[in-house]
Amino acid sequence: MQNLIINGGKKLNGTIKVHGAKNSVLPIISASILMNGKSVLHNCPDLSDVDAALEILKFLGINSQKSGSDISIASITPENYIIPDELMRKMRSSVMFLGSILGRTGKAVITTPGGCMLGPRPIDIHISALKKLGAKVKENRGTLEFSAKGGLKGADILLDFPSVGATENVILAATLAKGITIIRNAALEPEISDLINFLNAAGARISSGGTGTVIIDGVSELDCAEHTIIPDRIETATYMAAAAATGGDISLKNANASHMLSVIEVLRKTGCEIISGDSLISIHAPERLKPVKSVKTSVYPGFPTDAGPLLISALTTASGTSVFCENIFQNRYVFVNELSRFGANISTYGTIAIVEGRRALSSAHCRCTDLRGGAALVIAALKAEGESEIGNICHIKRGYENIAENFRQLGADIKEV
Ligand code: EPU
Repeated sequence: MQNLIINGGKKLNGTIKVHGAKNSVLPIISASILMNGKSVLHNCPDLSDVDAALEILKFLGINSQKSGSDISIASITPENYIIPDELMRKMRSSVMFLGSILGRTGKAVITTPGGCMLGPRPIDIHISALKKLGAKVKENRGTLEFSAKGGLKGADILLDFPSVGATENVILAATLAKGITIIRNAALEPEISDLINFLNAAGARISSGGTGTVIIDGVSELDCAEHTIIPDRIETATYMAAAAATGGDISLKNANASHMLSVIEVLRKTGCEIISGDSLISIHAPERLKPVKSVKTSVYPGFPTDAGPLLISALTTASGTSVFCENIFQNRYVFVNELSRFGANISTYGTIAIVEGRRALSSAHCRCTDLRGGAALVIAALKAEGESEIGNICHIKRGYENIAENFRQLGADIKEV
């Protein structure tokens, strides 16, 4: 098992480049199942979740090749429509292969993805939407078998909640369906626009006015496409929160400030100065952050749930009390016990976290519970004077490429052992 050793207490300073978005590249890899010929994806992050997605493609008989941050995928009709349980379990987001396998082959078999540290993660919204497209579903001891004899047919679908994964799955399933599909109350995350842009570049006919409605006019086949993955907005938020926590002054290249408006607004309330320009965001933090009275997570363009732990960690040393309200995941605060080891003073009551700022954190030994909670521990360790050790960093590696190397470039004393 790998650990991170961090000697904290240094202000971050310098410039680094943000990687491509994990939550874009994963559905986009899945979308390649609908295509024919060789697609090339640029700006792909090198992550264990991306490897897991490429393993699923391989199992389906689709070859891919990684070269630096490029991935090329040679799409053919899949040889298989079943994702085995061991591949499903490698990443929760393997469920987003459902829509594309079903859309391409008329059949798909997956195992129920189950819960994760963030709480139960049902796929009822995915299933009821796919049923509207004509899929029949059979459940047998944890295995879900989907079939659509004669192919899927377009439908008018209202999602109960603007679920990111369900919106993506319906887009993927409806791209090759007969007729028009309308998704109402669709998620609006930038990663969904990125998926739509990739599919349209290969010949799909999908439009979204950014108003919660996505319209898919089914086509009979897709070509291939060349596409550049958008910058990762949560990785961007992570480095910004770390700069804020340490009183730092950093710039992020290849970042998209227009995807970060709610995070930038909260960081400005803490007293950080933020300047954004052509693919660049600079943040200059004060000696001590001001508390934020209320941060409520919500669907995009609201404050992202994945940025909650990062800001909670930064505000543990603010000059007063901050209050967070989590509205997406039941167990979002699972990391808080570990963060408390640094001396952070946080009380949670259901969806509410009250963060009482202390003058300083102390170094600690702790373990990651989940991806963003793990990043929150790294931020705390960068702030705390002395040597901290963070274990179970496989969680962090799911979503951050070279996190230690990036923080070293910003002047941190951090190594992976
Ligand atoms: N939900 C249901 N039923 C469903 C689908 C979702 O009840 O059928 C609930 C979930 O249990 C959850 C909420 O709705 O409480 C939001 O789920 P959503 O489907 O929107 O999230 P997701 O697609 O599972 C993606 C990201 C997450 C990110 C969320 C919210 C990917 C691969 N994952 O998950 O990213 O937190 O949207 O923005 O895109 C991360 O990167 O660390 C991460 C967890």
